[in-house]
Amino acid sequence: MLIAIDGPAGAGKSTVASAVADALGFTYLDSGAMYRCVALAELRGAQDPLACAIELGRQVTLDGEDVTEAIRAPEVTARASEVAARPEVRGQLVALQRKMICSGDYVAEGRDIGTVVAPEAELKVFLTASPEERARRRAEQTGVDPGHVLREHEERDERDTTRAHSPLEPAPDALRVDTTGLSIDEVTHKIVQLARAVR
Ligand code: CDP
Repeated sequence: MLIAIDGPAGAGKSTVASAVADALGFTYLDSGAMYRCVALAELRGAQDPLACAIELGRQVTLDGEDVTEAIRAPEVTARASEVAARPEVRGQLVALQRKMICSGDYVAEGRDIGTVVAPEAELKVFLTASPEERARRRAEQTGVDPGHVLREHEERDERDTTRAHSPLEPAPDALRVDTTGLSIDEVTHKIVQLARAVR
């Protein structure tokens, strides 16, 4: 079974997707971490960033090096949404993601899981929250000023929704969940219930 969770920056996808995966005994796939790895490889001057080996798990590794922390740096985040607009990058990462989700039960999270990577997913959720709430949550996690986070999110969401290739948009059959004012546990519980209902 596959649960696809898509949505804009800071909507709580990672936290919720990994909690849902834990609750159901599924594997969690953070597709954004893969775009971040390509961005990091490029920023470090790799000749062919797409040739670097990416491994996801408790730690994220790039050619064997633990980059779990490094891929969260602000410059990597900004570059990730730039590299994610390139068809050759998406083509390769989407192929890898499809291979992974075929191997078992997954909760996969990103921007295009329900629309492009796996339109056949049994459950598709489009997670949103008000821009202010999304910025507040991310600022709490990172210690960065909320106003700064809001501007960074606006820039990234604009690029992600307007790109020609696989833009961020809800799949026609995705269930929209607005998490503004909801706790992580409430959102997780809701998605777990939905998953049990379609299973
Ligand atoms: O967690 P956050 O929403 O801040 O970012 P992320 O999910 O780690 O994704 C970083 C960037 O990768 C996004 O801004 C997108 O440009 C890109 N991305 C994508 O295009 N498609 C995906 N399936 C996942 C991420």
